[in-house]
This record gives sequence, structure tokens and C-alpha cells, in this order.
Amino acid sequence: MDLVNEILQELKKEGLTLIRNRTPMVSATTSMLLALSLLSGAVLGYLFFYAPYWGVRRLPGPIPFPLLGNLPLLAKYGPDLFSVLANQYGPIFRFHMGRQPLVIVADAELCKEVGIKKFKDIPNRSIPSPISASPLHQKGLFFTRDQIWSTMRNTIVSVYQPSHLAKLVPTMQAFIESATPNIPSNEEEDIIFSDFSLKLATDVIGQAAFGVDFGLSSKPQSGGDSMNDSRHQGKNNSEAHDFMKKHIYSTTMLKMDLSGSFSIILGLLVPILQEPFRQILKRIPGTMDWKVDRTNRDLSNRLDKIVVKKMKEKDQGSKDFLSLILRARESEAVMKSVFTPDYISAVTYEHLLAGSATTSFTLSSTVYLVAGHPEVEKKLLEEIDGFGPHDQMPTADDLQFKFPYLDQVVKEAMRFYTVSPLVARETSKQVEIGGYTLPKGTWVWLALGVLAKDPKNFPEPDKFKPERFDPNCEEEKQRHPYANIPFGIGPRACIGQKFSIQEIKLSLIHLYRRYVFRHSPNMEKPLELEFSIVLNFKHGVKLRAIKRA
Ligand code: HEM
Repeated sequence: MDLVNEILQELKKEGLTLIRNRTPMVSATTSMLLALSLLSGAVLGYLFFYAPYWGVRRLPGPIPFPLLGNLPLLAKYGPDLFSVLANQYGPIFRFHMGRQPLVIVADAELCKEVGIKKFKDIPNRSIPSPISASPLHQKGLFFTRDQIWSTMRNTIVSVYQPSHLAKLVPTMQAFIESATPNIPSNEEEDIIFSDFSLKLATDVIGQAAFGVDFGLSSKPQSGGDSMNDSRHQGKNNSEAHDFMKKHIYSTTMLKMDLSGSFSIILGLLVPILQEPFRQILKRIPGTMDWKVDRTNRDLSNRLDKIVVKKMKEKDQGSKDFLSLILRARESEAVMKSVFTPDYISAVTYEHLLAGSATTSFTLSSTVYLVAGHPEVEKKLLEEIDGFGPHDQMPTADDLQFKFPYLDQVVKEAMRFYTVSPLVARETSKQVEIGGYTLPKGTWVWLALGVLAKDPKNFPEPDKFKPERFDPNCEEEKQRHPYANIPFGIGPRACIGQKFSIQEIKLSLIHLYRRYVFRHSPNMEKPLELEFSIVLNFKHGVKLRAIKRA
């Protein structure tokens, strides 16, 4: 028994020693495991965040912050940022939008390489975070890809034949005429010209695209007036007005910086989390994602109804874009498989989106710039007055050939304020641009806004000089042919270019036959701009209209 006790005692002692000795061993192993898993987590996190960086690491560019990338620079420099970076890093450089690297191309010859010479390797657009959270905006021509895009584009191009555009002149003129009497010509009263031009451009494209009169521009117009003005509610067109309010909300929520909805911000920082979070947040009343989702669903329903109604009507005489697409769709089986009702809704809605903000911005910036340059105004008025009696409506041909100075003024205004300063593209396979090998899936963005301010092609770029576009002037002759491309480049260039130029010229002729404009003392100097889906005026363009004798 004693022996047993002795052995037990011995074992107990040994055991205790073992336990005493093992505690530090166990904790060391646990700590090591913990440290290893933290380290591998950090390495995986690092690889996850920097994987997109790896493919473009050889390009020069500013050092990205973790998560935010180079977005803080956007906040610091605003729309001028890419010119600043091009000066520092050259014609092709890297910029990190959150985690996503962009290859920015800021040179006319390289833009030609991306947009034309190597188009087959870079045929699609990258889909930025705000759009990937918005199914409504994805099925239009802008973001469709490859074969679907080319079938859609070929059909839509046929709608933009010059003969069809010429027929639209009287429709455009009718809207412009009914809008102008509402401009207050009291020299003491401000007109928020950017609101006026947005309503006008939306009405014109609403009619041309859907055959729907939104009735926005023919309503009373005065300083402080806005789309949400309660005086305009409850009138006969409240349906259309509500539709437009939703359209404006849906569009302005597509922010490219860190001021969008939570899911959009996540899309910029951690794309993989964007869709799951959007799915959750859109179910939580009151969140911005919930509001955007409701608005987009409502817009889609309304658009679908318009499409279904038009499909039933089968009005052979209608000249609006939607009716023409529907007729083209009837003629070929392949068209029916591409132009399903949801794509038709999206592409029609896209016209409203692409055609209103851009055209209205251009109209406003032209009038703003002319108001600040009396010598340009004088020459322009002489040309417009010299065309003929003020009630003589110009034809499409007149607009193209009989107003050469107006043409130069519009080109220069579009150069001065480039409404789409960046154009998004994405490589479909590995491709070499500007001496750098870019892997498949690289986002390549063309910096049209930087080209437009490049002193190589535009001496004294910060001066508003329409004469630089005079075909006989040396500057114009020597300029690179792709230095001024506000409508983009190559097979993917803007489809609405001729439509919008026709509308802008017609509007300007009509306006300057009746008024001249002066800057309001209530407007900031210089004009402040902000990035949303396209460039926009931060506080609107405030002018005073003076009736001409
Ligand atoms: C001043 C007015 C306008 C400007 C400055 C403008 C500018 C642009 C730019 C820069 C692009 C990208 C081109 C590229 O990737 O190379 C584009 C594409 C597009 N624009 Fe416009 N745009 C204007 C008016 C319009 C109008 C009125 C419409 C419709 C009626 C329209 C419809 C489109 C469409 C559908 C695309 C996508 C084309 C595609 O990917 O195939 N735009 N626009």
C-alpha cells in the first residue's frame, strides 16, 4: 500500500510538474497559431485589396491610400484633378478609385490607339460602382457588351439617319418656342438658366425618345424655380412631372465619389460586399439604398407601361425613337431576342438620361461663356441676324452649314467645359497601350477633359476663343485630329451627337434672336462645378435676360 501511495505521490508530483511546465508551451502554441492566422488574414486581405493593383503596378501614378485609393485627391482638386496628375505623371498613369485602379489616358494619339486602332481588344465599358448597383441603368447601349451591344447599336444608328434628324427640327423648334416666352426679361430678376435648359432638353428628348410631352419647359419660369417647385405640382401633367422627379433623383444619386448611397460607397471600397449589402439595405426603410431602389423600381414600371402601350398601339406614323425601335424589332427575328421589353425600356430611358443632362449643360455653359465675352456675343448676333427674318426657321442643312461662327462658339464652349471629362472602357484581353502591357479586365479611361485643356493643342487653354476652331486658322490646321473629342471616339462614340448639336444650335439661334444674357451678381466667380455622372454646376448658372429691341 505504501508502495502504491508512494507511486501515486510520485505521479502526482510528475503530473503537476508536467502541467506546470506545459502551460507556457500551450499558450506559446496558441499565440503562434493566432499570430499565424492574423498574418495570413493580413496577407490575404493585402492580396485581395492589391490584386487589381498588381497588373498595373508598372504605370506611374500617385500612391494609393488603403481602401480609399486616390479618392481623397478628387476631394482636394475637384474636376481639375486629372490635368494636375497628367502634368505630374505624363500621358498615361494610374489612379485608384477606392480599390479599383484606373488607367487614365490623357493624350490624343493614345486615345486614338484605345478608341480606334485597338478597339477590338477594348470594345466595352467598365461598369463603375454606382451603375452596378442600378440594374435600370445597365441594359442600355452604354453598358451592354460585345455582340448584344453591336446588334443594338446597329439598329439604333439607323434611327439617327440625317433624314430622320431633319424631320425632328420642327418638333424641337416647337418646344423651344413655347419655352422662351417664359424667360423673365426683367433686368433685376435672375433666371436659373441651367434649370431652364434642363427642362427644355428633357422635354425635347422626352418627345423624341418616347413621344411623351413632359410639359416642363412651357411652365412659368423665374428665379428660384426648380423641378420640385410646388407651384408646378397637381397640374395636368403631374404624372410626367412625378416621373421626371424620380428620373432626376435616380440619376443624381449615381455619385462617383464618396457621397452616394452606402452600397455605392462599399462598391468603391470593397466591391465584393456591394451587392449583398444592397440587397439588405434596400429592405430597410429610410436608407438611401431603399429610396433609390423604390425610385428605380417605380421608374422601370412606368417605362415598361409606356413600352407595352406603344407595342399595342403599333402606330406606323409615330417618329419617336421608341416607335422606330419597335418597328425595327418587328422586321428581324434576331432583333426580338436582343430587344426584349426590359432592354427596350432601358435603352429608351438611357436616351432621356444621356440626352438631357449633357445637352442642357452644354447649352448653359455656352450662354454663360458668351455672356462674359461681349466681342463673341457681337459676332454671334451678327451671324444670327444675318441669316434672315427672325421668324424664319432654319432647316437641318442650314444649321449645319449656314452658321459657321455659331459652330465655333459651341465647339469652344464644349472644349472649355467638357461635360463628360472621362470616358470609361475596359480591356477584353491583354493589350499594349503606350508601351505598357495591360492585362485583360483593366479599366482604361480616356481623359477627354485633360485633352481639351492641353496647351500643345490649345494655346492659352483657359481663354474662351471660338476663333481657334475657324477651319482657316493655323491653330485648327495644326491640331491633332483627336484633341477635341467631347462626344468620344471610334465605334463607341456618342450616338446622339448630331441630335444634340442640332438642338443646341436651334435653341441658341432662337434665344439670341430675342435676348442677350448677363451674369447675375448673385452668381459665384469662377463658376463652381461638381462631378456626378457627368459634370454639373454646383450652384446653377444664374443669368439676367435682356430683351433685344
Ligand atoms: C452635348 C451633348 C452630349 C455629349 C457631350 C455626349 C457625350 C458622350 C460621350 C463622351 C459618350 C462616350 C463616348 C465614348 O465612349 O467614346 C457618349 C455616349 C453615348 N451617348 Fe452621348 N452625349 C451627348 C448627348 C447625347 C444624346 C442627346 C443622346 C441620345 C439621344 C446620347 C446618347 C448616348 C449613348 C446611347 C451613348 C453610348 C454609346 C455606345 O456605347 O455605343 N448622348 N456620349
